[in-house]
Amino acid sequence: MLRNRFAILFALLSWLNTFAMAQTAASQAYTPISGRCPAGFNLVRMAGTPGNQTLSSSEASYVQNRKAHVLPQAWKTYLSNVLSTNPFLPDYVSRILSGASSEIPTLGIATSGGGYRAAIFGAGVLNALDARNSSSDAAGTGGLLQAATYLSGLSGSSWFITSLAQANFPTMQELIFGPANPTASNSSWGGWNADYDILTPSTNSAIDTQYYTNLADELLGKYDAGYVVTFADYWGRMLARHFASGTFSSNVFNDSYTHGAGLHSQSYSIPFPIVTADLQAPGQNSSEIIAEDYIPLTNPNIEFNVFETGSFDPQLSAFVPTKYLGTTNNSICVTNYDQSAFIAASSSELFNEANFTNTFNSEFGPILALMADLMPEPHVEYDIASWPNPFYGVAPDTFIDSTQTNLNMVDGGEDGEVIPLQPLLVKARGVDVIFAIDATDDINGFADGSSLIATQNRSSLYPSAYSFPPVPTSMGEYTAQNLTTRPTFFGCKTTSLNTSTPLLIYLANGGPPDGEAPLTNTSTSQTSYSSSEIQAMLTQTFVIATQGYPEKEATKDPYWPSCLACAVVDRARERAGVERSGICSTCMDRYCWDGDTLTTAAS
Ligand SMILES: *[C@@H]1O[C@H](CO)[C@@H](O)[C@H](O)[C@H]1NC(C)=O
Ligand SMILES: *[C@@H]1O[C@H](CO)[C@@H](O)[C@H](O)[C@H]1NC(C)=O
Ligand SMILES: *[C@@H]1O[C@H](CO)[C@@H](O)[C@H](O)[C@H]1NC(C)=O
Ligand SMILES: *[C@@H]1O[C@H](CO)[C@@H](O)[C@H](O)[C@H]1NC(C)=O
Ligand SMILES: *[C@@H]1O[C@H](CO)[C@@H](O)[C@H](O)[C@H]1NC(C)=O
Ligand SMILES: *[C@@H]1O[C@H](CO)[C@@H](O)[C@H](O)[C@H]1NC(C)=O
Ligand SMILES: *[C@@H]1O[C@H](CO)[C@@H](O)[C@H](O)[C@H]1NC(C)=O
Ligand SMILES: *[C@@H]1O[C@H](CO)[C@@H](O)[C@H](O)[C@H]1NC(C)=O
Ligand SMILES: *[C@@H]1O[C@H](CO)[C@@H](O)[C@H](O)[C@H]1NC(C)=O
Ligand SMILES: *[C@@H]1O[C@H](CO)[C@@H](O)[C@H](O)[C@H]1NC(C)=O
Ligand SMILES: *[C@@H]1O[C@H](CO)[C@@H](O)[C@H](O)[C@H]1NC(C)=O
Repeated sequence: MLRNRFAILFALLSWLNTFAMAQTAASQAYTPISGRCPAGFNLVRMAGTPGNQTLSSSEASYVQNRKAHVLPQAWKTYLSNVLSTNPFLPDYVSRILSGASSEIPTLGIATSGGGYRAAIFGAGVLNALDARNSSSDAAGTGGLLQAATYLSGLSGSSWFITSLAQANFPTMQELIFGPANPTASNSSWGGWNADYDILTPSTNSAIDTQYYTNLADELLGKYDAGYVVTFADYWGRMLARHFASGTFSSNVFNDSYTHGAGLHSQSYSIPFPIVTADLQAPGQNSSEIIAEDYIPLTNPNIEFNVFETGSFDPQLSAFVPTKYLGTTNNSICVTNYDQSAFIAASSSELFNEANFTNTFNSEFGPILALMADLMPEPHVEYDIASWPNPFYGVAPDTFIDSTQTNLNMVDGGEDGEVIPLQPLLVKARGVDVIFAIDATDDINGFADGSSLIATQNRSSLYPSAYSFPPVPTSMGEYTAQNLTTRPTFFGCKTTSLNTSTPLLIYLANGGPPDGEAPLTNTSTSQTSYSSSEIQAMLTQTFVIATQGYPEKEATKDPYWPSCLACAVVDRARERAGVERSGICSTCMDRYCWDGDTLTTAAS
């Protein structure tokens, strides 16, 4: 797919002067920095045994502060939006959301991979949940975003989540299209610049050729400092033009700007952001890879959060400070490795799916040739994101990469779990309810539930660490029961379900609203979008997120906002020992997946 676009450039690159240039502003800002570690520094934090794991003290206080200072008002705002659509909710919903009960919900939002399509669909759903959008408030769904405690993304949605955190939580319109009157600077937000293709931003091949050379130059500082540099670094520098601050229409090709180099996730007003990646472990058992996937479900899942990076999977259960990624011991501390765009690049590193074996003939040949010329690394694997392994020697009996000097990271969805649910299932996080957004490409750019099946499989490997509600085990069931074309709740059919299992609110990109032409199932490999195309996708996504599950003939379920609120409070209700009642009982009958009924219906 990309071969033709790059092939044209090959000829140009082959005679281009590839002598290492003086380091550019971005190259300097991209270079990791080594220094003495702070006194008493301890790189690795062991997070405990399954069922008894602990959060970092920084995360615990972030969450505590959010609970004390942000969530009480956020839940009240959300409640008033819900009540404006239906004043007849059972009392317990208002009691819980207004904070009058000691039980308040802990909500996590997970948004799936799937390239730009998933980034746009995820942003569209979050817009429908955003209290800052008056249309969302009027629809009775606005405010849920602000009331969330956690927000996770991977691959295409890691672009979305890292850009949202890095730009300090703007509205979705400002995030995607940039502020109204932008001033180009190294640190201000310029929007996604989606009309510039990620891979071939110019229509003029001479300009693109210069651009590719500039990108390679930006890696020289890191290379010269002795770090492994791969195609993922290059990819990260491309992504930075779109999902990190510092790039505007006016300076896309101007290399006197840093283009997001040196920038880290920083917002604390946002729900606690988490991005995941998979490990491609040299010692992995490839016969455990499920067809169509690339990584065994048994490999540890890595999460990057604002404070820590590591895994709660029992075979590792260890973390290091994100700020000190790049560090491998307690004496020399590395900083500036954890750049926001490199984290997004690691989470979306799917180039191991392309064939780099015969490098110079591969789709990315011209760029790989350029990089090999500038930064020779004969024995380095190029199609992964390389991170110095901070867990060397940790958990030697169970951690598959414990003897590797570098961790090879790849796209977080390559094990089949394309919605980053794992971090929200960690018991220490106590998440009651997860809003899962699925924009995976299973059929024609639409989702068919495969990712939930992978999560179910993965959770069942680690029953003491994670619990996940029952979901259908075959893709056919999701489509046959229309579970991807309307919101579906999982884990709420029996009222006495173990409250340590989160309730799942599943909203898939499964088809267009009734009677509309599909706009949200664009190809994962589409790497540029016009503003009008994005706007049209956001508008359609808004309908998908606010229509609920309409009765025949209707275009909208007027009780959807109430039903959503009933689901959100359901675990807190159960903990408080209150019976479901009123509209909430009706809602659960309508939206809750009933495994038994479906098995009967299907047979
Ligand atoms: C961007 O940063 C570089 C390096 O720090 C600096 O030389 C340049 O002047 C900055 N540009 C702007 C517009 O601030
Ligand atoms: C859980 O961890 C704490 C603190 O490390 C320890 O004191 C306690 O014994 C552990 N409990 C179990 C059941 O492992
Ligand atoms: C790049 O940006 C700098 C700082 O704004 C400006 O002085 C310079 O003229 C620009 N270069 C080009 C080629 O536009
Ligand atoms: C690899 O996985 C397969 C399938 O699960 C299993 O049968 C086999 O024993 C595994 N091999 C090793 C060396 O663990
Ligand atoms: C610590 O790591 C650095 C690389 O970041 C290395 O140069 C140094 O030798 C290591 N020190 C020890 C004591 O292992
Ligand atoms: C990758 O490319 C090499 C060289 O062209 C070829 O021999 C090999 O079969 C290819 N591998 C795959 C999995 O396509
Ligand atoms: C989007 O869905 C329509 C209807 O199913 C289909 O015809 C079209 O090919 C899909 N688009 C993509 C890019 O898969
Ligand atoms: C889930 O597990 C079942 C049973 O082992 C297996 O057949 C299926 O392929 C797995 N699916 C995914 C998506 O992991
Ligand atoms: C699924 O949706 C189709 C089209 O709206 C409808 O005809 C069918 O009855 C639905 N199936 C179920 C099980 O709800
Ligand atoms: C709920 O699940 C947890 C963890 O799986 C378990 O320790 C606990 O005993 C369960 N409680 C009930 C009432 O089943
Ligand atoms: C609210 O959402 C709608 C639907 O996507 C969008 O058209 C509108 O611009 C948004 N308003 C704001 C203030 O972001």
